[in-house]
Amino acid sequence: MIKRKLGRTGLEVTPLGYGSMGLRGPRTWGVRVVEDHDAERFLNLVLDSGINFIDTSPDYGVSEERIGRFISQRRDEFYLATKCGCAYTQREDHLEIDHVWQRDVIQKNIETSLRRLKTDYVDVLQFHGGDAKTLQDQGLIDLLMQFRQEGIVRYLGVSSTLPKLPDLIELGVFDTFQIPYSCLAPEHHDWITRAAEGGAGIILRGGIAHGGPDAEIQRPALNEIWNRARLDQILPQGMSRAELILRYTLTHPHCHTTIVGTCDPTHLAENLAAVERGPLPTDLYQEIRAQVAAVNAS
Ligand SMILES: NC(=O)c1ccc[n+]([C@@H]2O[C@H](COP(=O)([O-])OP(=O)(O)OC[C@H]3O[C@@H](n4cnc5c(N)ncnc54)[C@H](OP(=O)(O)O)[C@@H]3O)[C@@H](O)[C@H]2O)c1
Repeated sequence: MIKRKLGRTGLEVTPLGYGSMGLRGPRTWGVRVVEDHDAERFLNLVLDSGINFIDTSPDYGVSEERIGRFISQRRDEFYLATKCGCAYTQREDHLEIDHVWQRDVIQKNIETSLRRLKTDYVDVLQFHGGDAKTLQDQGLIDLLMQFRQEGIVRYLGVSSTLPKLPDLIELGVFDTFQIPYSCLAPEHHDWITRAAEGGAGIILRGGIAHGGPDAEIQRPALNEIWNRARLDQILPQGMSRAELILRYTLTHPHCHTTIVGTCDPTHLAENLAAVERGPLPTDLYQEIRAQVAAVNAS
């Protein structure tokens, strides 16, 4: 797979990355549970496919632990991004999650992540949300800088959305931004550009919009946008809806990688094939963009 430079980190990442939230395991949230042996096979398949960027988080159940157990021996084949600011409590039948902007929480997060991931360093440590003022006032950006000096973190990132995103970009301290984006949820389009123009690497999440109307687990709000924008009418023959959505995301001029989450080998193969077909033709991209914008303006 061709690679793209993740902004000023200089890391050469595959445009299709892997979001490992789906590997979170039992007693977390959602209806689908991936068993250990399938997780092991799937994580190795991700690397065998050439994907070199994996996103996880301390509050994704057993996701970090599985990455550590099943692919840490292949650590030199992939870049690893995890998160911090995560407080979580295992309840009887679910994982209770909160985000807390305190030094002790962040310190505990990185220690736990390194232990679970069976690694000495993470490539990107991302605040799992947070606003610019709090992160600064609590000394948390300085703390991440300290981690960098210690060699346990290579680059500083943040996962964010509007309305917090602009102030975070303004700080000018983040090497990467993780931002949700797809043709069905395009509201961060210009902010992605703004962050990239400041030199940051761009990690897009939600880049396949959960598969859109092709999804196994349907998302009515996304389907409604698809239908109202009449995207079936401009879907080229032979192209799946998921392919159109993914290739649209990859066509954003500043998409460096999109961390699609899947636990289905067939979907993984389809997504890899979609990446190989490259960005969408300009006229199709513009038509989709205009039709969705018209829906959102109405
Ligand atoms: N606040 C944050 O920082 C935050 C929040 C959410 C997510 N994330 C990160 O972003 C990653 C991705 O986010 P996401 O899971 O919300 O969004 P996503 O990648 O757009 O959607 C994942 C869903 O898409 C389905 N899918 C993938 N390829 C498909 C295909 N070819 N055809 C049909 N369905 C397909 C998957 O189902 P199958 O398993 O059936 O393929 C899965 O249910 C997460 O894993 C996580 O790493 C971060």
